[in-house]
Amino acid sequence: MNRFNNSIAFDKVLYEADITGSIAYAKALKKIGIFTNEEYIRVVKALKEILNEFANGKFVIQPSDEDIHTAVERRLTEKVGDPGRKIHTGRSRNDQVATDLRLFLMWKVDELMKKIVDLQKAILRRAEKENNVVMPGYTHLQQAQPILWSHYLMSLFWMLQRDKERFQDCRLRSSVLPLGSGALAGNAFLIDRGALAKELNFAWVSENSIDAVSDRDFIIEFLSACAILMMHLSRYAEDLIIWSSVEFGFVELDEAYSTGSSMMPQKKNPDSLELIRGKTGRVIGNLMKLLTVMKGIPLTYSKDLQEDKEPLFDTIETVRASLEIFKGVVKTTKIHPDKMLAKMDDEMVFATDVADYLVKKGLLFRDAHKIVGRLVRWLTEKGKKFSELPLTTYKRFSTLFDDNVYRLFDLWHSVNLRSAEGGTAKASVVKQIREGKKLLRKQL
Ligand code: ARG
Repeated sequence: MNRFNNSIAFDKVLYEADITGSIAYAKALKKIGIFTNEEYIRVVKALKEILNEFANGKFVIQPSDEDIHTAVERRLTEKVGDPGRKIHTGRSRNDQVATDLRLFLMWKVDELMKKIVDLQKAILRRAEKENNVVMPGYTHLQQAQPILWSHYLMSLFWMLQRDKERFQDCRLRSSVLPLGSGALAGNAFLIDRGALAKELNFAWVSENSIDAVSDRDFIIEFLSACAILMMHLSRYAEDLIIWSSVEFGFVELDEAYSTGSSMMPQKKNPDSLELIRGKTGRVIGNLMKLLTVMKGIPLTYSKDLQEDKEPLFDTIETVRASLEIFKGVVKTTKIHPDKMLAKMDDEMVFATDVADYLVKKGLLFRDAHKIVGRLVRWLTEKGKKFSELPLTTYKRFSTLFDDNVYRLFDLWHSVNLRSAEGGTAKASVVKQIREGKKLLRKQL
């Protein structure tokens, strides 16, 4: 039962949050006369020593240490005697663990947001440097219209921006102090919760002790935000995996982020990206785990809640590593603009531009669409390209065609047509990169 019940093996990572919480709680206890000033000073000193023991790997876990909370209290009592046996006055592990988790989460969210910014910077740098590469853009994994490689890269920048906003948002809702809620009904010692919140950098104090010890929304929100973030990385991983195949050849992963096959000497496998894609399943699974654990727990605390930790810790570590690896991939992957051009589907990518051209000459879009549809079918049958057709043939499809239709069959012309905000025109992408930089500057 002990082995089944104990959480110290995994919740020891909470040691800093737990001890930080206890130091603040000791101060609150001094304020209401539970600790004398001398006791308080000894307790804080001992707690700081315990913190160092953990940080230096010197803390020895005893078989009786059920979880991080009991372990710290046991060690404190070893060090200071009776005052250690007063630290839990009015406190329950229920409000304590909720406090630890919220503190821990806020710290980790800050770290992860920095990692996102690092990745965004790598994207910006690369988009700026490689703002002259045209590639096929896809819908349905079918070639659609030419786009700039930099425009493609920047699309991830904006997804990450939203991911960061979601982190900020869930950080905000984590910033509510449960400490002082006791086991479920509140604290009977007139503890100053406002001062506790200030001491621990919480923005608010919880309004309802029942809710405070039961609530794990902040973890679920965080896990959701992580699942969305990983889903984003996974889609880019998938693109790059496809584009690194011989069939495409658009990109080439650096040796550092790929591995060879144990059997086939010629192979270079995109393992880094495959793992990010795979670990996305794991992170989504962690979210499902906690939702499933939570859905049947009667208020307030039940031990089921101990199952909130492993999915949380695992997700933090997985997301941190994935962001770092993806940044490495963004920095080091080679692109092959020649292959991107070579694979551009025989001018068919200009079909929309031809239809738009007829619209600008006065046709209704639906009519233009139909005419160009006919033209495309005809070209496919004859195995010809737009630019090879004489004007007389064009005229058979619509009399609105004239000589300047040939100007359309240039990739840069096509790209630069999309000059409305947010489009792939070079000028729009330059502006987009500028906006991205401005945003990051504002945030840091
Ligand atoms: N290890 C426990 C957890 O992680 C701490 C809270 C224990 N509370 C209790 N009433 N048994 O949830």
